[in-house]
Amino acid sequence: MKWIEAASYEEMSEIAADIFKENLKQNPEIVLGLATGGTAEGFYKELVEAYKAKEISFENARSFNLDEYVGINPENKASYHYYMDQQLFNHVDMKRENIHVPKGDTADLQAAATQYDVMIKAAGGIDIQLLGIGVNGHIGFNEPGTPFTLETNVIELAQSTREANKIYFDSIDDVPTHAITMGIQTIMNAKKVVLLISGASKQEAINRLRSGEVTEDFPASALNSHQDVTVIYTGVK
Ligand code: F6R
Repeated sequence: MKWIEAASYEEMSEIAADIFKENLKQNPEIVLGLATGGTAEGFYKELVEAYKAKEISFENARSFNLDEYVGINPENKASYHYYMDQQLFNHVDMKRENIHVPKGDTADLQAAATQYDVMIKAAGGIDIQLLGIGVNGHIGFNEPGTPFTLETNVIELAQSTREANKIYFDSIDDVPTHAITMGIQTIMNAKKVVLLISGASKQEAINRLRSGEVTEDFPASALNSHQDVTVIYTGVK
């Protein structure tokens, strides 16, 4: 695991965006694994700026997002689909048919989950995966206790995750109880992983990740067994 300390949130976002830009330039048909959340917003801003400056193009790129809430449709402002449209997709030249966000509003969620892995594999696998981390160590929405062998699946959100994400909803009661997420195995299959960590609320998570222990009680610890992970952190010791 490679660790990079950034002097600020902006620098963390720039370093991460530079890695993605370089990979995109080298492989215009790249398969991107994308994350949502507050931590990633600066990263998307950098990518959009680079696109507008004609430094990069997403014309032939494909993308798969990590997760989506169950019971929320893509037009809902709290949906991860909506977030991605606002942060990236509405501003760049990625083709709509090449964009994939798990379907949280479908009747057969399990079938949608299984199909998601089939589509990722058919695309040749994820070349580079962006991740954030939850206060409890979740990656994607894989909460503590998730078997590392799972691929995309439907999970129950931890109370701490619902609390952390209630700022995007009118009240805690409106935060969905379930989500569809790439599994740890799906994430581990990515060829390269970039993990962003920002802010004091993530101190305990970063300490635990640094300890090097590998346990299903701390989902991000699976990354200790991945061969190409870069952690870019700021605002935490
Ligand atoms: C988002 C995701 C989550 C977030 C994590 C951190 O697609 O899968 O694991 O990356 O909850 O969220 P923020 O950045 O809002 O603290």
